[in-house]
Amino acid sequence: VEDGTRVFELRATAGTTDFGVGDSATRTWGFNGAYLGPTLRAERGEPVRIDVTNALPEATTVHWHGHELPAAMDGGPHQAIAPGAGWQPSWTVDQPAATTWYHPHPHGATAHQVSRGMAGMFILDDTTSRALELPDEYGVDDIPVIVQDQAFDDDGQFRRAEHPFSPVGHLGDQILANGTIGGYHEVTTERLRLRLLNASPARVYDFGLGDDREFALVGTDGGLLPAPHRTDAVRLSPGERAEIVVSLDPGERVVLRSTPPDLGTDPWTGRFAGGDDRFDILQLRAAEHLVPVPEVPDRLAGTPGLDPADAVATRRFRFSGISINDRRMVMDRVDEAVVADTTELWELSTSDGSPHNFHVHGARFTVLEVDGERPGPELTGWKDTVYLAPSTTTRVLVHFADHADPNLPFMIHCHFLRHEDQGMMLQFVIL
Ligand code: C2O
Ligand code: CU
Ligand code: CU
Repeated sequence: VEDGTRVFELRATAGTTDFGVGDSATRTWGFNGAYLGPTLRAERGEPVRIDVTNALPEATTVHWHGHELPAAMDGGPHQAIAPGAGWQPSWTVDQPAATTWYHPHPHGATAHQVSRGMAGMFILDDTTSRALELPDEYGVDDIPVIVQDQAFDDDGQFRRAEHPFSPVGHLGDQILANGTIGGYHEVTTERLRLRLLNASPARVYDFGLGDDREFALVGTDGGLLPAPHRTDAVRLSPGERAEIVVSLDPGERVVLRSTPPDLGTDPWTGRFAGGDDRFDILQLRAAEHLVPVPEVPDRLAGTPGLDPADAVATRRFRFSGISINDRRMVMDRVDEAVVADTTELWELSTSDGSPHNFHVHGARFTVLEVDGERPGPELTGWKDTVYLAPSTTTRVLVHFADHADPNLPFMIHCHFLRHEDQGMMLQFVIL
């Protein structure tokens, strides 16, 4: 902390990581280390500054996914950092407690940089989250789980070739949780909070536990849910997060896994989009004596409370054929303009048979309906990314941050990174 500002240093860097696969260590990229990056943490109301340096051989950017901040600090494609150069974004955190993350966003090269390992978690706290009795001791009973799928060649290097029939991009056959294949966590408490982040370029996971036991879903992208949702599965498409609380008995072992997700595609498309795949991701090993932890409270955060009657405009976005509304990303074209601190109704439809998702910068949203139906309890909190199955229409209420800038845009895009890189991205300004 310098003069009341919380300062972080991030150095984008190349290195090698030994994942225990193949003949040599894998050439990887990360922040402050060779793979992934440190967890950053700040409190609502706190001014933050991040001193970023780029020690990579190519330009990068660092985007704060899920943060509400001025467009100049967003780290999108317009905030490029040349090799050897630095960037010092600063803003004041003013949004509910949430599990957010950071990753590069250079136009056309996001998949390549993120899947080399450039991703980290950014946890936000507030007085509500601190007052709730949820497991919150970082590294003990509050654990980040950053999930990436990778494929390796015989030499141990990442293999990037994608299946020619893949509608979504590269899918790996090995799952890395926090950079480890087949890892485990030693559990010392009766309850454990896992902050799940899908940092994979194209894979959708249906996370659950090995014996199908229920857990409490307590948070999604933009913060805590109004109330915990007891379930045995949570779906995360690329970019989405979930906070779950798992209960364990002394001495038991249970695996966090992913079962074949129903992507809503036809079986052929689903197969090449990872819809048949199942993985063990992280084993939880409970000690013989577990420290007591209170039950998850019945109420968590307030309801987002966005009202369709407050929407000042309706916009429609059609995701199809690597375009949105038949447009592809053009760096110097702004596609939409909205007004700061207002709410709009956005209708997101898909029509090309491929899985997609929707992510918006500089805003958060709630899901009103999917194909005319109210969504389930897992979609009752703040979101910034949501899965869009083929031939569906999802209506969301988007609330734009109070950060106007007529000159610098925010992004709307599909977070399947190959789609994004190929141009399934538009730009909007907040006026
Ligand atoms: Cu996770 Cu536009 O980004
Ligand atoms: Cu983002
Ligand atoms: Cu897409």
